[in-house]
Amino acid sequence: EKGGYDYFMLKEIAEQPQAIADTLLGRLSERGEIVLDEVRLTDQDLRDVDKVFIVACGTSYHAGMVAKYAIEHWVRIPCEVELASEFRYRDPILDRSTLMIVISQSGETMDTLMALRHAKEQKARVLAICNTNGSTIPRESDAVLYTHGGPEIAVASTKAFVTQLVACYLIGLHLAQIRGVMYADEVAAVVSKLQATPDALRELLGGMEDVRALARDLRTASTILFIGRHVGFPVALEGALKLKELAYMHAEGFAAGELKHGPIALIDEGTPVVCVVPSPAGRGVLRDKVVSNIQEVRARGARTIVIAEEGDDAVRAYADHLIVVPRTPTLLAPLMTTVPLQILACEIAAARGHDVDQPRNLAKSVTVE
Ligand code: M6R
Repeated sequence: EKGGYDYFMLKEIAEQPQAIADTLLGRLSERGEIVLDEVRLTDQDLRDVDKVFIVACGTSYHAGMVAKYAIEHWVRIPCEVELASEFRYRDPILDRSTLMIVISQSGETMDTLMALRHAKEQKARVLAICNTNGSTIPRESDAVLYTHGGPEIAVASTKAFVTQLVACYLIGLHLAQIRGVMYADEVAAVVSKLQATPDALRELLGGMEDVRALARDLRTASTILFIGRHVGFPVALEGALKLKELAYMHAEGFAAGELKHGPIALIDEGTPVVCVVPSPAGRGVLRDKVVSNIQEVRARGARTIVIAEEGDDAVRAYADHLIVVPRTPTLLAPLMTTVPLQILACEIAAARGHDVDQPRNLAKSVTVE
């Protein structure tokens, strides 16, 4: 049942290219438009939206963080992301023209469900992104977009995350398309990049031997820090979450620019810092800023593990260990950059002798508040 893999998690990591392809299946027209007829919200409903809220927990929340960058960039309407457990306790401002997107692999997470009910009471329209057919969250939502990632058995979420990202991209592009903010050829251009991600990811997964060796090396570290900017920030948070959850190690993710406001004091001789570097194409400024953050941590003795795009040769000079990912547009890059971090956490946990699929103190779906 593990298909020859030692853990379900490794099997599910390997399934990610297919899972992405399955999320896209049937949702793109030949001309590269987004077809989301299954989402029971009319085009008029979606044109009336003046604000988007995304609410989720854990890894699904990190997918929501990435989605905010994409939705605001493409659709040009304000988008807030919030942890479900915080959302309803602070009297958020919602009404009929708010689109509330709830993201949940299981569809049973109590915090997310309670946030959804709260949003419905305020008359917001609720769209669920969910992996589990017929579960409670999609049943109580006004509309649903299933991720079609297939069952996820390991407690740590992997393929669900990448498929949630794809679902968010589809929703963002769909909104931009029907609201007339993006031209059809602009949408089609992003769609063709999305369609290329399963193959790119297959290529990436084929070259992860180095990451396994690195994991054996890092298994005794007392902490591992992760830094990123823009969509690389949620990727950093996700890398740290996976490590805490599976390896029971101290790990923390930071917005790279925040380091100098405090956390840089944590860096000591040999502290491993995983740095997620944005693509040099398009937004070179972003990439250069991260590179200068890498120089800052190196100057304090950090051991840098750098995740950078193919062709970014200049970054080598700052990397004690370099992990190269295929070229991808900035907003889509988390589909690539997250994957080595999943493998790193899984392999470190295994090297420390832990049960990767069933980490202590955790359940696959958290049905208590
Ligand atoms: O089923 P959900 O997506 O609602 O679950 C949310 C979180 O509990 C979940 O993503 C959790 O953080 C994972 N175990 C992380 O790997």
